[in-house]
Amino acid sequence: MGNPQAVLWSPDPDAPAPAEPAEPAETVAPGPVKETVDEVPPGRPRRAVPVPGPLDGHGPATVLAMCNQKGGVGKTTSTINLGAALAEYGRRVLLVDFDPQGALSVGLGVQPHQLDQTIYNLIVERKTTIDEVIMPTSVDGMDLLPSNIDLSAAEVQLVTEVGREQTLGRCLAPVLDRYDYVLVDCQPSLGLLTVNALACADGVLIPLECEFFSLRGVALLMDTIEKVQDRLNPKLEITGILATMYDPRTLHTREVMTRVVEAFGELVFDAVINRTVRFPETTVAGEPITRWATKSAGAEAYRALAREVIAR
Ligand SMILES: Nc1ncnc2c1ncn2[C@@H]1O[C@H](COP(=O)(O)OP(=O)(O)OP(=O)(O)O)[C@@H](O)[C@H]1O
Ligand SMILES: [Mg+2]
Repeated sequence: MGNPQAVLWSPDPDAPAPAEPAEPAETVAPGPVKETVDEVPPGRPRRAVPVPGPLDGHGPATVLAMCNQKGGVGKTTSTINLGAALAEYGRRVLLVDFDPQGALSVGLGVQPHQLDQTIYNLIVERKTTIDEVIMPTSVDGMDLLPSNIDLSAAEVQLVTEVGREQTLGRCLAPVLDRYDYVLVDCQPSLGLLTVNALACADGVLIPLECEFFSLRGVALLMDTIEKVQDRLNPKLEITGILATMYDPRTLHTREVMTRVVEAFGELVFDAVINRTVRFPETTVAGEPITRWATKSAGAEAYRALAREVIAR
């Protein structure tokens, strides 16, 4: 894949200078961009991915950390909708809300401030068991470990713990045999909670907004992932990079996408999530898009992602 950081940081001689106001005609492609069924942005041939067959049994789970320290890139949206799409394919899924904002819990219709037990209790109190905290969701086969603002205190409390980076892994261990996938929705930071997620994960899934500034933070994220691989979790892999908020009408997102593919090659999922108001709407509805707008392009995109995740 070459050196991603070099590609991301090296100035592209053909790129328009960002400071100069661009001509509208250069930033917006004329008319809808044609993409044939076999092509995925930015013009790559679509790879063959099998439709997942049924499973004989469940577990042990593959743990995926949904991670990017940049805020608002689609981590939580992708956690909910990838989880729901995996469940549609008969996989048993546990979603872990590992962000004190509790957006994952809210997006699944849970009122975080009304919860007695959250993941906070699980990670700081020895007496709380994971089964006391896990709750079902409206999606068959998909459960949730909810969180709320209490979790922000855990980061401080964990600092003095022995084996502080492995706390989440220890908490999840008893249920891994019951699930096929555990998706951990990380907070937008590379602090101790995120390191806990990386330390117990098999893979990292990086949602990346198709916008120039997103590229800048990825180098730092890669650096953190490498440190965790070296020091805490040698089995950790990058499962894939997911382009989100893609707008096929603008040249800018297409250029960003081209750079991302240059840098990460095969790691970039063929599935691309377009920018659409349907996602904020589903948050209000408290349901995944696969249930709320079953046939929408957004739902189909997350199903395509689920097929790729199962195949990787
Ligand atoms: N593909 C999309 N198109 C348009 N809006 C989107 C899309 N994906 C997510 N959003 C919206 O963007 C906002 C941020 O998304 P989301 O909460 O998933 O990001 P995040 O990375 O989890 O944010 P944070 O870093 O704050 O946890 C939300 O309002 C969400 O509804
Ligand atoms: Mg989030």
